[in-house]
Amino acid sequence: ADDLCGLVIHLNTKGIKHAIVGDCVEVCFAAGENWHQGVLTTLQRGWYGLENLSLIPGNMGAAPIQNIGAYGVELADLFVSLSAIEIATGKHCEFDKAACEFAYRDSLFKNSARDKYIIVDITLRLSTSPAVNTSYPALAAAAAEAGLDGDLTPQVVSQLVCQIRSQKLPDPAVTPNAGSFFKNPVVAGSTAAALLEQYPQMPSYPQPDQRKKIPAAWLIDQCGFKGVRRGSVGVHKNQALVLVNYLSDGGGTGEQLLKLSEELRDAVWDRFAIRLEIEPRVYGPSGKG
Ligand code: EPU
Repeated sequence: ADDLCGLVIHLNTKGIKHAIVGDCVEVCFAAGENWHQGVLTTLQRGWYGLENLSLIPGNMGAAPIQNIGAYGVELADLFVSLSAIEIATGKHCEFDKAACEFAYRDSLFKNSARDKYIIVDITLRLSTSPAVNTSYPALAAAAAEAGLDGDLTPQVVSQLVCQIRSQKLPDPAVTPNAGSFFKNPVVAGSTAAALLEQYPQMPSYPQPDQRKKIPAAWLIDQCGFKGVRRGSVGVHKNQALVLVNYLSDGGGTGEQLLKLSEELRDAVWDRFAIRLEIEPRVYGPSGKG
């Protein structure tokens, strides 16, 4: 939210190691490896599983913090372990999948272990035989539109995902943003049923526990905020869940962005009685970080 008063370390370590384990390959990426380059490297080597997570901005070491996910796959599905340094002691620690307490856009590192560890590498288990997952509606639709439904390889899935992302999401190198600014709310089945009666066109995704996930983008869009600008910050014109900072327009402050996020949360609460939760971690005094 503001400039950080303290030492900021950008980990830039490189390296990819692998070991074949039966039909799978366990791949260990240094934390500073770029995520998307890592995805492309695995596909080139015939290691599959990361294709749906193509083009996510950021580095390997950041991926477990919020259990990144997209197009029907999340990091936890492929995760084996990570190694980290405990900041207070300098001690080297290993965390297996259970220890990371992964959940939807969440992990131990956003909760009790927040800011306590530096992740130095992550190990993922990938497949050496190609299989694709096109269960996510937007991905299935893109495959059908390209006339490719029966003929999909992981490489083609990766290309389709890149195409969808480039159409919908702003490039952070051009228009700074933190991806989805809110998590998709998960509501009781009865709440979703009541909303669906009122808004039959509302998209909703069933969860294993009978609850339903509702796209926050749809809720914000319905409140009329898509493309709205407040000074130099705004809601992206193609994806209502992404808040952007228009540098070309002078650039906004963290405080302005958080004020806009409050406006969106209030509007969604007033109209749908659903509370949106911020997805990124907010640092700095005006973010109460
Ligand atoms: N929609 C609208 N208006 C919009 C945007 C979307 O009504 O402005 C509707 C779409 O029509 C669709 C639904 O909302 O029915 C879902 O949209 P989309 O497929 O774009 O996904 P999302 O729920 O908005 C989530 C993740 C993204 C991830 C995509 C694809 C969260 C908070 N966001 O977005 O992850 O890329 O699914 O899997 O779960 C991120 O977390 O930073 C992120 C970008």
